[in-house]
Amino acid sequence: MAILAIESSCDETAAAVIALSGELKASIVRSQQKVHANYGGVVPEIASRSHCVYMLPIIEEALAQAAIDYAALKGIAVTAGPGLLGSLLVGLASAKALALGLNIPLIAVDHLEAHIAAAYIGEARPDFSRAPVMALVISGGHTALYLWKEVGELHLLGNTVDDAVGEAFDKVAAQLQLGYPGGPVIDKIAGAYQGALLPLPIPMQHSKDLQFSFSGLKTAVVQHLKLHPALNETSQAQVAASFQAAAIEALATKLAAALRRNPNVQEVVVCGGVAANQGLRRRLQAIPEIKTRTLKIPPPKYCTDNAAMIARLGLDYFQRQQFSSLDTASYTSFSRSPVCRHEKTESPQ
Ligand code: KG4
Ligand code: ZN
Repeated sequence: MAILAIESSCDETAAAVIALSGELKASIVRSQQKVHANYGGVVPEIASRSHCVYMLPIIEEALAQAAIDYAALKGIAVTAGPGLLGSLLVGLASAKALALGLNIPLIAVDHLEAHIAAAYIGEARPDFSRAPVMALVISGGHTALYLWKEVGELHLLGNTVDDAVGEAFDKVAAQLQLGYPGGPVIDKIAGAYQGALLPLPIPMQHSKDLQFSFSGLKTAVVQHLKLHPALNETSQAQVAASFQAAAIEALATKLAAALRRNPNVQEVVVCGGVAANQGLRRRLQAIPEIKTRTLKIPPPKYCTDNAAMIARLGLDYFQRQQFSSLDTASYTSFSRSPVCRHEKTESPQ
């Protein structure tokens, strides 16, 4: 007996199967990156059409990998949002059709909550009665700090005021002619670079809130490249490493500040595509506010978009019998998510 999970919020078509015991039985991800790379970023219309092509084969592949058939399914979990509307609709419509046809519950989940749940694949979810979990969700579309107080309850502490950090990685990589997506290639080049770093600004380092901003850092890179237009391997690596160091520092500074404001937090999750970054993973271990707590970062394959995280969170909803109606709507912005809560009171730093 198992749950099938579907993810199609952006440019990955993914399906996974999780047994009711919590054991992950299958996880298939079909990335469309090669198609979108020709355009330097995700083209929404192409993404939704590709989801239409790949959705059913991927579901069948996941069931085959798990060695089960449709009759063994007890629920269908699916991303309802946030994401690209057309892409979300393909996954949601497929999930509704399966739930209706198989007469089993639909479990619509939030993509960002699922990114956090990725840290618990293969294990029990946190004991929320002890303390909330703090989560830093960093991806191509999101850069935000949350308190995860309960399944279905994400309290927003801070958000980006402009670009998401993954978006900044992608834009800087484009400036450096390194292709799309930019995160993995900048990570690789920066990791190998041992020279001096450029003095780029660390965004929002001295702001008293928990907000993020990455467009100024991106502009600083653009300005530098205008003054030094000749690109070679060394100059590419220097810019990539300097940008990555500043971006990591910005994330580390705000995470540390958020932990100082929330001393009761015992567990910290850093997740989303950018959490795959090796430099960031190393830097996080050195943050004093983290050393006294448990830090959980999903393995890189569960940081970027996947359906295993949807399955893991879907199982929590299933166990709590929290099901969704067949007229559940998708949403493009987290502020429209049923799990979104805004923190009203903030103590000073
Ligand atoms: O979570 P994700 O797969 O999709 C969204 O929900 O957005 O995140 C994709 C983002 C892209 O911007 C990509 O460049 C970035 O994550 N990324 C990385 C790395 N791997 C992926 N950024 C930095 N370092 C990486 N190793
Ligand atoms: Zn994502």
